[in-house]
Amino acid sequence: MKHLLGIDELDKAQIMAFLDKAQSYSEALSKGDWDKERLRGKIILHLFFEHSTRTLTSFEMAAKRLGADVINWNPETSSLTKGENFIDTIDTLKSMIPDAIVMRHADYGAPKTVAARSGCPVINGGDSWREHPTQALLDALTMKQHFGKIEGLNVTIIGDIAHSRVASSNLQLLSKLGANVRVIAPAVLMPQKLPFENIEKFESLADGLPGSDVVMTLRLQKERMDRALIESDAAYFNEFGLTLEMMDKFAPKAVVMDPGPLVRNVQIADDIAEDPTRSLILKQVANGIPTRMAVLDILVGD
Ligand code: CP
Repeated sequence: MKHLLGIDELDKAQIMAFLDKAQSYSEALSKGDWDKERLRGKIILHLFFEHSTRTLTSFEMAAKRLGADVINWNPETSSLTKGENFIDTIDTLKSMIPDAIVMRHADYGAPKTVAARSGCPVINGGDSWREHPTQALLDALTMKQHFGKIEGLNVTIIGDIAHSRVASSNLQLLSKLGANVRVIAPAVLMPQKLPFENIEKFESLADGLPGSDVVMTLRLQKERMDRALIESDAAYFNEFGLTLEMMDKFAPKAVVMDPGPLVRNVQIADDIAEDPTRSLILKQVANGIPTRMAVLDILVGD
């Protein structure tokens, strides 16, 4: 494996290799005992053409915990602002011979374009609505730690399935590992085609929530909508926002997850987001570090 561009390219054994390594880094971090020199001497270039809090910060922390140096290239202070194009920017940066590139871009498949031109591993930190593979890996790690398994879990994803790269990567990963996956969305936010035929579609919380072990909420990806598809945030919340009341009524035993950014009282209410017994949201954030350490170790380590 040279790059990590999407879950679509991974088989079950490759996914498990990342998850097993992530679990070992999770345990090592809690004991303070891991190889802090694993990536000493490596320089990792972060090319984030879209904003990020969790992914960018946790990749940087993961790299530094392994001894690597990181350069956070910034499009807003780069020569893109003087008219240099994307390909010339990539060719310029690759000529400096980084040891790996972690990137996020709004264009479909942009990391594949970079992987084809660069001489180093490329890791996709999110491209368009296509894929966000490390998010799916850290979500799977979180579920596996909580339930001890992925196979057979009933996972329900609510929200803007059509525009979400998190949904895309999670639907593929969870299906490949044998979870029973459902999606709940208004018709305008439901893709025409899902990656696996056995993924069930619902258009209401009352129909889709019962039997769930995990309920994952997603943000409305307004930056990827070509027009307003939702009447208002309030109307969306009223019909599809997850509340403690709905969880108690339809999925009383389920835990709640959200990859963030958390847009409170649109996709999820404060009461369930902050429920200490049922919300795994901050555990997901924490698991970004061991998961990304695992990815860097496997792809960039000698
Ligand atoms: N989940 C996620 O990708 O969050 P950021 O946009 O903050 O990186």
